Amino acid sequence: MNLLLLGLPGSGKGTFSEHLEKEKKMLHMSTGDLFRKNIDNKTKLGLDAKKYLESGKYVPDHITIDMVKDYIKKNNYFDNLIYDGFPRTVFQAQALDDFLIENNSKLDKVIYIDIQEEIVVNRLKNRLVCSKCQSIYNKKTKAPLKEGVCDFDGEKLLTRKDDLPENIAIRLQVYKEQTSPLLDYYNERIFNVNIGDHNIEEFIKTVYDGLKI
Ligand code: AP5
Repeated sequence: MNLLLLGLPGSGKGTFSEHLEKEKKMLHMSTGDLFRKNIDNKTKLGLDAKKYLESGKYVPDHITIDMVKDYIKKNNYFDNLIYDGFPRTVFQAQALDDFLIENNSKLDKVIYIDIQEEIVVNRLKNRLVCSKCQSIYNKKTKAPLKEGVCDFDGEKLLTRKDDLPENIAIRLQVYKEQTSPLLDYYNERIFNVNIGDHNIEEFIKTVYDGLKI
């Protein structure tokens, strides 16, 4: 089964993916993480993507789609994959459906994390990310054991540039304009989880019970 996680920036896509990877042994592809790795490694793709990520705008469709197809093909990730942050435009969604059909695969379910804007703004302002393994923390709800340091590899925790308040506002606007139309596109494939301000465990239980995974 292939799953897409859809929801506002900060809705918990990355956090839930970490659980699915560990508990359900699913594979994980985060386009945000792929771009950030390319930026760190100073590849051509990273140089092209940098200005978009830092300002909270979307990387152009053709760059993103080529990167994803390449990644899936190279790793043979045609089954058991969590799509985290891709597709996020209708054009990307159509390109992915075509690509998967060509390769005898499909996107089975779309988990829509339905959450209020005020909650995600608060979460993003408090998010910390490991500079090496990308593990996700939160100063308020998921603090590391030792302040400023990753529990898993002891590396420094950082605030992402796109989590600065002015960039959060841009990301929310871009999401509304370009990603919210995906709810209509995916229509009957959507599994809607309205999480209010549930904690991480409650959210996960709702999804596992609802999808029977
Ligand atoms: P990306 O890295 O995907 O960013 P995003 O979509 O903005 O999502 P986030 O990573 O910010 O949030 P999340 O939903 O994963 O939340 P998290 O689990 O971290 O993309 C970055 C950029 O890359 C884009 O802006 C764009 O430029 C580019 N890009 C990527 N994909 C692209 C595409 N397809 N096309 C074009 N451009 C693309 O959680 C947030 C915080 O909340 C954490 O601190 C966490 O601990 C906490 N938290 C999570 N769940 C809970 C909970 N249930 N209760 C309490 N706290 C919680």
